[in-house]
Amino acid sequence: MGQYIIEGGNRLNGQVRVQGAKNSALPILAAAVAVGKPCLIHNCPDLSDIDATIKILRSLGCRVVKNGDMVSVDSTGLTSNVISECLMREMRSSIIFMGALISRTGEAEITAPGGCDIGLRPFDLHLSAMKKLGVNVSEKRGKIRCTCKRVRGGRITLSFPSVGATENIILASVRAAGTTVIINAAREPEIADLAYFLNSCGARISGAGESVITVEGVDALHSSQYAIMPDRIAACTYMAAAAITGSSIIADGVVLSHLAPVAGCFEQMGCRIESSGNKLRLTAPERLKSPETVRTMPYPGFPTDCQAIIMSTVSVAQGTTIVCENIFENRFKHVAELNRMGTDIKVHDKIAVINGVKSLQGTAVNATDLRAGAALVLAGLCAEGTTYVRDIHYIDRGYDSFAENLTALGAVIKRKD
Ligand code: EPZ
Repeated sequence: MGQYIIEGGNRLNGQVRVQGAKNSALPILAAAVAVGKPCLIHNCPDLSDIDATIKILRSLGCRVVKNGDMVSVDSTGLTSNVISECLMREMRSSIIFMGALISRTGEAEITAPGGCDIGLRPFDLHLSAMKKLGVNVSEKRGKIRCTCKRVRGGRITLSFPSVGATENIILASVRAAGTTVIINAAREPEIADLAYFLNSCGARISGAGESVITVEGVDALHSSQYAIMPDRIAACTYMAAAAITGSSIIADGVVLSHLAPVAGCFEQMGCRIESSGNKLRLTAPERLKSPETVRTMPYPGFPTDCQAIIMSTVSVAQGTTIVCENIFENRFKHVAELNRMGTDIKVHDKIAVINGVKSLQGTAVNATDLRAGAALVLAGLCAEGTTYVRDIHYIDRGYDSFAENLTALGAVIKRKD
């Protein structure tokens, strides 16, 4: 379903404006259901996952108008708290509507969500947290029904700092009777962005971005306008495009602190990183060196969403790199595709060993998930000859104007639907 045709070997230069964060925009749009008043979201990226979220909002009776990077959501006239299996299956973050609907109506009927096939993607932590907030949860023939008179605040310790579970707990408890404390909460910047948005609507959330978050329930929330933070994973992707092609580019509109975990890795590869304000310049060396072992960890550790992107980059570095994927159990599907291009990567359980090679050869490869697809495009940018990256609908889920941005930087990449 659509492919990118890439002529490799071109140096990049210039500046790219980094899109709004997908994993911030998705929960914030769902949160508009909990707010119950008109909200205007700015800097929203143009992605198929955003379109899927808008479809869910409209199926619930919300009025949604998308105008460029602005999305207005008016959930005043909510008419339903049921989300169809078809809509739930379109992406992972459909699960976040559970907390928002419970907050607003006391009820939600959903099914298991979809999402990239990078592991089982269970949501047991989400459901057990809802129960601790006084929500009755029943599962029958694939449908999950949540009901409660009014959410009561509680103390929830997460066995894993799950991003989605943290978001669902915040959304379910924002209008609860009493206070909720989340212990071992996810610390990803997207959690803080969600909390900043909800606080701009009158919520009382503190500690977001730290491992203990406190949500003091309020009776009602009010309208707000909010600008989504920059996408740190997209920023890393463009930095990697410069690194793998021996180029120097500027990523504009970034939050430098969000990039700290990956910036260190690029510097170990011999890249120079200069920053001023919200601009970051990455200048690659003639040939990359292999960095220290890359271990994916919850934030502020190395982000799992950058694992495939970095693996592509180090595949042509001098030396051997070890990558350890600690978050998802099936997130190495890009390896087989990269090896078709001449990389030398072996996988042993959650460890990948990448022996850097001098060059890659263009060929036909298949995107298997969102970030794997981006990693294959990066490999195509430096490969000899032409690379055909197929199934690029995965990439459309998370990258806004990907080919246009790379073309503006000097890449030769065409989309063929
Ligand atoms: C979010 O997924 C992101 N998606 C993912 O980005 C990201 O990789 C992930 O967080 C980790 O940072 C969105 O925000 C839409 P988790 P999420 O719950 O919430 C296990 C991308 O490419 N777990 O933190 O699903 C789970 O299996 C996507 O943009 C449970 O066991 O991630 C995984 O091993 C991919 N039970 C680990 O926790 C649960 O109830 C992390 O999952 C929930 C999660």
